[in-house]
Amino acid sequence: MRLDKFISHATGLPRDHSKRAVRHQRVSVNGEVVRNAALHVGDNDVIRLDDETLALPQPRYLMLHKPAGYICATEDGDHPIVLDLLTDMDTEGLAIAGRLDMDTTGLLLLSDDGQWLHRVSSPRHQHHKVYFATLHEAADHNTVTRFADGLMLRGEDKPTLPARCTPLPGNQAEVILQEGRYHQVKRMFAACGNQVLALHRQQVGDVVLDASLAPGAYRPLTQEEIASFQP
Ligand code: URA
Repeated sequence: MRLDKFISHATGLPRDHSKRAVRHQRVSVNGEVVRNAALHVGDNDVIRLDDETLALPQPRYLMLHKPAGYICATEDGDHPIVLDLLTDMDTEGLAIAGRLDMDTTGLLLLSDDGQWLHRVSSPRHQHHKVYFATLHEAADHNTVTRFADGLMLRGEDKPTLPARCTPLPGNQAEVILQEGRYHQVKRMFAACGNQVLALHRQQVGDVVLDASLAPGAYRPLTQEEIASFQP
């Protein structure tokens, strides 16, 4: 990365300020004052501006237990947004991987690492997602078969990928999807003549919602959880 770009990333200064700081000999690389703002610097170089050693901000990776009533958007005039729940951090640059409907609860993954977000949510990587649905009527054998075979959703031209629906006591069902179409779980049950009354996401890929997180709480992902989405 160019030195002036590094300085701007590390400090938040505009690029022309970073260039000026180099020109004014305020910047050293590995102890040597440098004058070339285009110098290429790498991970092992020690870069100082005046008396301060600079470091690039580290990307953030979070899991949030989304409560009902919050919108998965970065702004919304009418409703609270999930970023409002991240009370002790600067939410600038954070984005959501795989949105949930306003009334859906459960596991939400957030980061400011664009490539990682893409790996989590791009259809090409097909990370499975585990949901628990509370239904108007118990899921029947026909529903289980249609989920497994793939079914046509209203207004779409390709059937859904094979999905697993496991009926549970009390009109509940566990649903495992390999894709993430708009309102997919609700629309799949609607296509089978049923209705989802409540929906909770428990897992995305290998990352499971931490049972110690109350609705609205969040924590950083572990290294292992982050790495589970590597290509
Ligand atoms: N499917 C839905 O219908 N809603 C969600 O929030 C997630 C998956």
